[in-house]
Amino acid sequence: MEKVKLNNGLAMPQVGLGVWKVPLDVTAKMVATAVENDYTLIDTAKQYGNEQGVGQGIAAGLAATGKSRDDLFLTTKIFNGDQGDYDRVRNAVNQQLAALQTDYVDLLLLHWPVFNRYNTSWKALEDIYRDGQAKAIGVCNFNVDHLTNLLDHAEIKPMVNQIEFNPRIHQPDTVAFCQGQHIQLEAWSPLGNGQLLDNPVINKIAKAKGKSPAQVELRWEIQQGFVVIPKSTHVARMKENADIFDFSLDADEMEEIAMLDEEKHSIWYQKFRWSGNPDGVDDYIAKPG
Ligand code: A2P
Repeated sequence: MEKVKLNNGLAMPQVGLGVWKVPLDVTAKMVATAVENDYTLIDTAKQYGNEQGVGQGIAAGLAATGKSRDDLFLTTKIFNGDQGDYDRVRNAVNQQLAALQTDYVDLLLLHWPVFNRYNTSWKALEDIYRDGQAKAIGVCNFNVDHLTNLLDHAEIKPMVNQIEFNPRIHQPDTVAFCQGQHIQLEAWSPLGNGQLLDNPVINKIAKAKGKSPAQVELRWEIQQGFVVIPKSTHVARMKENADIFDFSLDADEMEEIAMLDEEKHSIWYQKFRWSGNPDGVDDYIAKPG
């Protein structure tokens, strides 16, 4: 598995398994299967409600393979409702680590740029990092304004920004900013939830390469330096999604896929902001204007 190097020197696998929307009872089996099939990067979040399943799946996968925790790269995220209070973030992480059956994560991310709260949350992440409970820290869904504001306040620069990115959604300003700052980009929904799998351009290139449409999309992303975390509950697809290092796309093919950009970004998080209700993570209200 190819790896990228984060700005603190930590090596991060370039392909991993995402478990967004995977029900708790399915998660353990899915994660164990992934570990048995040589996935090392697993990406979860408190908001997904399946950290316990990830912990069980990792334990089962390690037992079945004889691998050790250090062979894996585990990511989780800070729940919006826990943001904005130093102690609450630290307590939440202790509970999340217990659910994950580990005493550290490889990467800990702020899940969303919660208005007026993310700089306080970041202070807690910096100490969590210093204390060794996270080997790297970062953010998700931060745009240039959020990152600029964070960098003005931060002592430790984020190592990763995980954003929505796929052939339909490019976020060029955020991408350029992160590349300039050596903040590693990671793509969530790298297959755009499966919506481009029957696209003629993707299929034409897939056929020419002897690869699947999903592999072509993921290859397009890793060739731009992204880490990708496609989600699949099917073992054949999991294997397929990790098998993207034996071919490449030329400049014309990269450009042809780039033309599929529709800016069909689920930009609800730019149009809305969190209501401030700590119990209502999905409780967003429209920003004025
Ligand atoms: P499934 O879990 O049934 O395999 P994204 O990661 O962009 O959110 O996309 C996830 C969606 O894409 C899921 O519906 C998943 O379905 C599907 N998917 C994942 N990998 C593949 C693949 N290699 N081929 C076809 N569909 C895939």
